[in-house]
Amino acid sequence: MALYAIGDLHLAYQSEVKAPMQRSGRIWQNHEAKLKKYCEAYMKLEDTLVLVGDHSWGKKLAQCEKDLAYIEALPGRKILTRGNHDMFWNAKKTKRLNALYRGRLHFLQNNFYSYHDYALVGTKGVTFEGPFYLNRRGQILGWDEKAEAHAEKLLRRETARLRASFEAARAAGYKKFIVFLHYPPTNILETESAFTRIAEAYNAEQVIYAHCHGEARFNDSLHGEFHGIGYHLVSGDYLKWRPKRIL
Ligand SMILES: [Fe+2]
Repeated sequence: MALYAIGDLHLAYQSEVKAPMQRSGRIWQNHEAKLKKYCEAYMKLEDTLVLVGDHSWGKKLAQCEKDLAYIEALPGRKILTRGNHDMFWNAKKTKRLNALYRGRLHFLQNNFYSYHDYALVGTKGVTFEGPFYLNRRGQILGWDEKAEAHAEKLLRRETARLRASFEAARAAGYKKFIVFLHYPPTNILETESAFTRIAEAYNAEQVIYAHCHGEARFNDSLHGEFHGIGYHLVSGDYLKWRPKRIL
């Protein structure tokens, strides 16, 4: 039995929308087939795969059904967290989504899933992404304060959701935790954040995140051990579509 993670599939079986990188980037050519091949090669039916957001370009559930069917057909138990592009998933209606896909897909929001004696907890997260204002040397001189104020509001909501996930697991008796976020836990200006502090407060062992695409973005946040917790980026293009073994 093993636990794997990957994120940012950005599937488009029912959508014309694609990011520029998906149209031209070599790593994105036929990425659905690559991921399927690697999952089928590495994973067994008793394994768990956590998909950490940005599943589909579809805006409504009806426009995502083929994308979700693709995920459903991958081997093992599939657990999904929300990404910034997952418009089909209203966080407040997660119970409805879980009822609709019962036994097929598992949506992680204000709840948790168990894996052996671990609780898998998570939420979308949020990191302030600017715009940052740079000088000619590329040094950051300032940033958009209105956008920062909005990010602060989202931060309060997302940290509350992460705590709710931890508390649900703790109430069920779990003491070991793996955290799944879509956004990186820190932005390019931060060395720590509300998310790293929550992970530390609950003694989480690992924090898994995605959202960082393209080589220029891969080092925007934490990699490896920080304050005793392992931080791992699992965006699909970073992993070259090979799901990362977590446990
Ligand atoms: Fe994203």
